[in-house]
Amino acid sequence: MSEISRRDFLAVTTSVVALTALASEAGAVEAISESNNVPSSVASAFAANHEIKPLAFDPAKLEGLSEKLMRSHWENNYGGSVKALNAVKQKLAAFLDDASLPAYIYNDLKREHLMRTGSVVLHELYFGNLGGIGSADTVVKKALIDAFGSVEVWEKEFRRMGAGLGGGSGWVVLGYNLHTGLLENYWQWDHLHAPSATLPLLVMDMYEHSYQMDYGAATAMYVDAFFRNIHWETVSIRLEKALKARLVWLTGGVR
Ligand SMILES: [Fe+2]
Repeated sequence: MSEISRRDFLAVTTSVVALTALASEAGAVEAISESNNVPSSVASAFAANHEIKPLAFDPAKLEGLSEKLMRSHWENNYGGSVKALNAVKQKLAAFLDDASLPAYIYNDLKREHLMRTGSVVLHELYFGNLGGIGSADTVVKKALIDAFGSVEVWEKEFRRMGAGLGGGSGWVVLGYNLHTGLLENYWQWDHLHAPSATLPLLVMDMYEHSYQMDYGAATAMYVDAFFRNIHWETVSIRLEKALKARLVWLTGGVR
C-alpha cells in the first residue's frame, strides 16, 4: 500500500478542521445543505432534489456492452431509483409530523429510503468506474498485491463472486474499510447491505438488467466485458481518497 505524504495528510486534516469550524458557525444542517446546493429553507435530510447524473463516457464506445443496454440501464434502472428516492423523501417530510401514522409504517418508508439511496449511490459508482480501457495503474496494482497476494488472486475472487451472483441480483465491490484498514472484495446481495465504514473503489452491478439484453444468462461474458471497460483511473483516485480518509478517521481519538 502506498504511503501518504505528510503534506497530503496535513492538507486533508486542515480541510476537515475548516469544515468543522464552518458547521459550528453557521449551524451544521445549513452547512451540509449549502455543500449540496440545497436551498437553506429545506433541510438536506428531507430535500427531494437528487438529480440524475449524466454518464461520463460515450455509451456507444464501450467494448462488449451495447449502447442500447447502457442507455436502458442508466435511464430506467438508475434513473428510476433517483426518481423513487425523491418521491420517498417527499413522503418522509410530509409524514414526519403526522401523528396518525404509526411509527412502523414510517419506518417502511425509511427502509425504502435506505434501499433507494443505496441503489443511487452504487449505480453512480458503477457507471463512474466504466469507460476505460481496462488496465490498472501501478498504484492500484501494488495495493491489490499487498492485500490479496497478487492481482490475479484479487481478480479471481472478484470474478468468482460475480459468477455466484449470476441469475440473481446484487453487487460485487472492491472496498476499502476505514475502520479495519483492509482492502477486500465484498458481496452485496442488494442495495441495503454493505460493511459499515466501507468506501467502494470498484463496483460491478450483477443485477440481470446489467447484462440480460446483451448476454442473456451468460454471466461470465458480461463479467469479461465489464473488465475490458473498467476506468482504472477512477479506481486509483478513489483509492487515494480512501487512504487519506483513513488517516483522518484515525485522528481525534476514534476507537
Ligand atoms: Fe443496475
